[in-house]
Amino acid sequence: MNLLVINGPNLNMLGSREPEVYGTQTYEDLLDYIEAFAQEYQVTVDVIQSNSEGEIIDAIHGSVGGYDGIVLNPGAYTHYSYAIFDALQGAEIPAIEVHLSNINNREDFRKISVIAPACVGQISGLGFHSYSAALRYFIEMAQGDRGLWI
Ligand code: DQA
Repeated sequence: MNLLVINGPNLNMLGSREPEVYGTQTYEDLLDYIEAFAQEYQVTVDVIQSNSEGEIIDAIHGSVGGYDGIVLNPGAYTHYSYAIFDALQGAEIPAIEVHLSNINNREDFRKISVIAPACVGQISGLGFHSYSAALRYFIEMAQGDRGLWI
């Protein structure tokens, strides 16, 4: 199984960027966390980061056929990029929107995601665990687990 994590603008600054919001772990720590997860679950997880909207859109276009799912942290593009919404909507690949912080208990503008409607779901506020929860969803779905309790 091949999964793609796309990190948007300013996520490369983790560790030094607003540590009271995003914590003190660095972007390298996030990459290590995802790699350790991928090894534990025996899946391939590629990770890219871009500060440019166009590069994120190109990555979504390029993922079709090569990946089984996308975990996307669009950063601030979450709140206004109809272009990323359109890219996901037009691509034959499922995506989950993730956020490190809880976008629902911060500024009002962060409570709106224009991208989430093009996604399977949204996970917010769990720090690095937002990523592993999303990755696990794809893995469990591929194994035929539909999350049914009965
Ligand atoms: C973020 C939340 C966004 O509102 C913000 O612009 C970011 C990071 C998060 O992971 O919590 O850049 O996506």
